[in-house]
Amino acid sequence: MTPEEFRRRGHQVIDWIADYREHIARHPVMAQVSPGEIRARLPAAPPEQPEDMAAVLADLDRILLPGISHWQSPRFFGYFPANAPLAGVLGDLVSTGLGVIGLSWQSGPAITELEEVVTDWMRQMVGLSPAWSGVIQDTASTSTLVALLCARERASGYAMARGGMQEGAPPLLVYASAESHSSVGKAALLAGFGRDHLRLVPTDARQAMRPEALAAMIEADRADGLRPAAVVATTGTTATTAIDPVGAIAAVAARHGLWLHVDAAMAGSAMILPECRPLWEGIEGADSLVLNPHKWLGVPFDSSLYYVRDPEHLVRVMSTNPSYLQSATDGQVKSLRDWGIPLGRRFRALKIWFVLREQGVAALRARLRRDLENARWLASEVQATPQWRLLAPVPLQTLCLRHEPPGLAGAALDAHTLGWAGRINRSGAAYLTPAQLDGRWMVRVSIGAEPTERADVAALWRAMRAAAEEGPGEAGLGEAPAG
Ligand SMILES: Cc1ncc(COP(=O)(O)O)c(C=O)c1O
Repeated sequence: MTPEEFRRRGHQVIDWIADYREHIARHPVMAQVSPGEIRARLPAAPPEQPEDMAAVLADLDRILLPGISHWQSPRFFGYFPANAPLAGVLGDLVSTGLGVIGLSWQSGPAITELEEVVTDWMRQMVGLSPAWSGVIQDTASTSTLVALLCARERASGYAMARGGMQEGAPPLLVYASAESHSSVGKAALLAGFGRDHLRLVPTDARQAMRPEALAAMIEADRADGLRPAAVVATTGTTATTAIDPVGAIAAVAARHGLWLHVDAAMAGSAMILPECRPLWEGIEGADSLVLNPHKWLGVPFDSSLYYVRDPEHLVRVMSTNPSYLQSATDGQVKSLRDWGIPLGRRFRALKIWFVLREQGVAALRARLRRDLENARWLASEVQATPQWRLLAPVPLQTLCLRHEPPGLAGAALDAHTLGWAGRINRSGAAYLTPAQLDGRWMVRVSIGAEPTERADVAALWRAMRAAAEEGPGEAGLGEAPAG
């Protein structure tokens, strides 16, 4: 493709995206296809000869679009908001258009330096002290893995990095609540702790970690000769937005010399609102934290911010220094390959920069406040309506609810819940995510897609009541677990 042809096709593609966003509400929110349907419409073998771009774009509409669930729709209430404002789409396009890779500062100085700037802007936006240094990772899963690698090395005096699995001392342990995200267990596995050495700390009635239970478990494990190494606290759990008490957990971690990592993947966006910051009170006592601007805040996926208080330790754990990557400037610049796992870095900072500059912090705050207000409105409607129940507090924008007709319990209630949620999802009117809480199905309503206004939430509420009135039906699509 020549630059001239790119210009012509590029305009067409931008028009395509603009039309898609403008008319997104016309699409059924959840893809109405069966497994294998999209694949069956695609050729099994790659094209031997070049094809016309017009044919590719036509297939985008004809074949792929029916297989898209529309996360940017105003009626998307599933999983979590993953906003991709159009300014961020342009930032991502520029990144790909430049086609640069950040292997070292020298391989693209602006990649490193813009990343330093935007991670520091974001630090200020969420109210963290200047003691934190940030880096962009792809996902919270990677950030938490890096955190547990750092915890492992601090607890073992860098012995694991030297001897690896052969080191042979008593097992190192990680603590998290049973409500923590599955990525914590995966990180414990990948960092070599082993799932058996992830201790699930009991929670209170609000599904938040109990710090005194944490302390008791650490003491018991110590008495058994084991080596507690890290705690992962969650600010905003996936199922119910439970808020672990970070300050009290930090005190326990400090008393026992444990690494404290805070997973604020979803709720971290809320910290741009000063009124939400009490939710992670005590955060300055943590060693590392992750928050995902690619969720509610609205930077297109993938964009996860990992902050640490001791970057030297991070670099010591992660660094590599092959000769072809060394340069005369090494002593004066950051080498972000030493702040995470991959060597090559995309120019991800661009999309954050585009979004922050195009929107401004005040507008981002206003949008999040709008969503909080919509969640409060729906919560009060649910609470005021007979047979409907809120199952967990609503500290932010996600509601956990159930319709409980008299006489329905256990498996029959589960079938009713999955039935009405499935009917809504299959109707295409909105997208909801059922999830389990205490072994029973409920429905999560996650408010916060960029175009979602009060009218959309009110329409959802009408649709939920109508679907629930239809009574028990067969469970269908839409029973996907929540995130
Ligand atoms: C609390 C929490 N942590 C971690 C994750 C995983 O995020 P990522 O997809 O960026 O790995 C999620 C995803 O929804 C989450 O809710």
